[in-house]
Amino acid sequence: MEQKIIELVNETKAKVNAIACAKDLTDLKVEVLGKSGALTLILRGLKDLSESDRPKMGKIVNEARVELEKVIGEKFVQLERKELDEKLMKEKIDISLDKKTTLGKLHPLNVMRRKAIDFFVSMGFIVTDSPEIETTYYNFDMLNIPPDHPAREMQDTFFVTDKILLRTQTSAGQIRTMEQIKPPIKMISPGRVFRSDEADATHTPCFHQIEGLVVDKGITMCDLKGILASFAKHFFSENSSVRFRPSHFPFTEPSVEVDASCPHCGGKGCNVCKGTGWIEILGAGMVNRHVLSGCGIDPDVYTGFAFGVGLDRITAICHGINDARVPFEGDIRFLKQF
Ligand code: PHE
Repeated sequence: MEQKIIELVNETKAKVNAIACAKDLTDLKVEVLGKSGALTLILRGLKDLSESDRPKMGKIVNEARVELEKVIGEKFVQLERKELDEKLMKEKIDISLDKKTTLGKLHPLNVMRRKAIDFFVSMGFIVTDSPEIETTYYNFDMLNIPPDHPAREMQDTFFVTDKILLRTQTSAGQIRTMEQIKPPIKMISPGRVFRSDEADATHTPCFHQIEGLVVDKGITMCDLKGILASFAKHFFSENSSVRFRPSHFPFTEPSVEVDASCPHCGGKGCNVCKGTGWIEILGAGMVNRHVLSGCGIDPDVYTGFAFGVGLDRITAICHGINDARVPFEGDIRFLKQF
């Protein structure tokens, strides 16, 4: 019997060695150690042995069981690891695939906005923020545009309620600043403005302005012209110049439209400036007395100037963009050119 057990152990070990999948190993385990397995049958046969042989053989059978369980158990661990490795290899996802990313960059309008802000900050202006959703009080009333004034119609916009609207001009920011700080004031306020215009090559219902306001004792139109002339040189070229044309804004008196000499032809006349040699870049003027006194600033002591630059226009001029709608479309083919 002892010999039979040794043979069974050796035979089983050899089979375990040769097995390559967990299922075959389970079958072998049942075959040898299961309820009617080979070793179990030997164990059952012990009852036919003599009293004296039984304990010795019992011990041998138990040792054989322990040894085989160990060998089979180790093989199970080995096979499970192997099968898991194979599965992982098969199911591997290469997350690095197609991960080529391209670096983004600033929209040309933002580049221009930053450049303009840098310019004014270098001249001592502070930068203020003002809400895009504004009240008629700040957008019109306080800017000397009463409810029946025709300028309201020229700047028709999107109303949220009778008294709340999307601002038509960053000039509303002038009032908010003058209410908060007293002269000397030197500020710019960049931002989006809205008018209910049909989008075409020269209009978009949303566009960008940079408001400028300087209020102090003894400020004159010469100061306005000096700053705007430097601005034109900074943006266009050293040889750029500006000219003032009389205009009207209810919140400035006198008011001007400001043209810069065409940066494309240097003032000779080309198709960009429609042969005139000049390009309109902003509206400006001396702050109206009513506006100053409305904000609690004495117009007999202080004077000031204000201007509103069309940022989209400056960007279009600098880059030769001939359709105002294009910068808003987010077309990558357009944006990649800058
Ligand atoms: N707010 C005016 C506009 O939108 C521009 C402007 C600003 C004019 C400041 C004068 C002074 O047309």
